[in-house]
Amino acid sequence: MEKPKIWLVTGASKGIGLALVKLLLTKGQKVAATSRNASDIADKITDHQENLLTLTVNITNSEEVAASVAKVIAHFGRLNVIVNNAGYSIYGSVEALSDQEFRQAIDVNLFGTVNVIRAALPYLRQQRSGHIINISSVAGYKGFGNSPSYAAAKFAVRGLSESLAEEVKEFNVKVTMVAPGFFRTSFLDKGDQLVGKNRIAEYHVDRLVNVLKKMNGHQKGDPEKLAAAIIQITEETNPPAHLLMGPDAYEIVSEKFKADMNEIEQWKALTISTDLDESDDAHQFEI
Ligand SMILES: NC(=O)c1ccc[n+]([C@@H]2O[C@H](COP(=O)([O-])OP(=O)(O)OC[C@H]3O[C@@H](n4cnc5c(N)ncnc54)[C@H](OP(=O)(O)O)[C@@H]3O)[C@@H](O)[C@H]2O)c1
Repeated sequence: MEKPKIWLVTGASKGIGLALVKLLLTKGQKVAATSRNASDIADKITDHQENLLTLTVNITNSEEVAASVAKVIAHFGRLNVIVNNAGYSIYGSVEALSDQEFRQAIDVNLFGTVNVIRAALPYLRQQRSGHIINISSVAGYKGFGNSPSYAAAKFAVRGLSESLAEEVKEFNVKVTMVAPGFFRTSFLDKGDQLVGKNRIAEYHVDRLVNVLKKMNGHQKGDPEKLAAAIIQITEETNPPAHLLMGPDAYEIVSEKFKADMNEIEQWKALTISTDLDESDDAHQFEI
């Protein structure tokens, strides 16, 4: 039988993270699971607790993150798969969101992921193996109105993942960015905290929030199936660099790419008109 892998999953107290931790444990894997309050995870896991290490971590604090990754290594002896899952959205226009609200969303969704990767990479690099899975979103491909901080963070997670993949390829460390559509989790359960404190009526954030509130509890995506897909890609020799999850994600992102391609072609003449007039073919650069 194959040796169990050691997984680190952030934001594991509910939703996708919790579904993944539960499924991993039933499959005999060993899991370090983080939450801002570790007891929120422990309370929900009854089986295979011997293979679970719960950690209270504020992922925006790089020192706390480094200490917790060190604990995982000390406890399990190694680390194989990291799932940067913790994240949240706050709704409101660019103009209405406060600086603090905007930065906090970037801090959790982007820097939380960066902190975990930075802390884990020395081990994975030395080990010459590992798989880093970063949960982005459809919002990492298409910016929706009244969701700018989340889109900025999730687009950034996509760029981060692509850059990282290139950097760590030679160390046999794989990177996959996963972009879910709407999944039935606690993601939209935040009541008044779903929207920034400041409202500017002309941006109609209420229209969006009413739709999201109606959708809450009826999302078609099944977190357990998403969890199974994540496990599946870690078993592949050549896992995807990007994985969309859900028919809605497929639809939205493929339409977005088509629209982007159309725009690129529509403006091609202007795009390619900007080189200096003198031709200097001797200088061709490749990155
Ligand atoms: N559900 C969807 O429709 C959907 C769609 C696209 C992408 N996603 C992404 O999928 C990931 C998981 O979301 P989910 O749907 O499972 O949501 P969820 O049910 O709300 O769970 C989110 C998890 O992230 C953590 N988290 C939330 N706010 C945080 C904060 N301010 N600081 C640190 N951790 C925080 C929570 O950890 P604690 O244990 O510390 O509370 C929680 O366990 C997120 O990155 C989300 O952006 C979800």
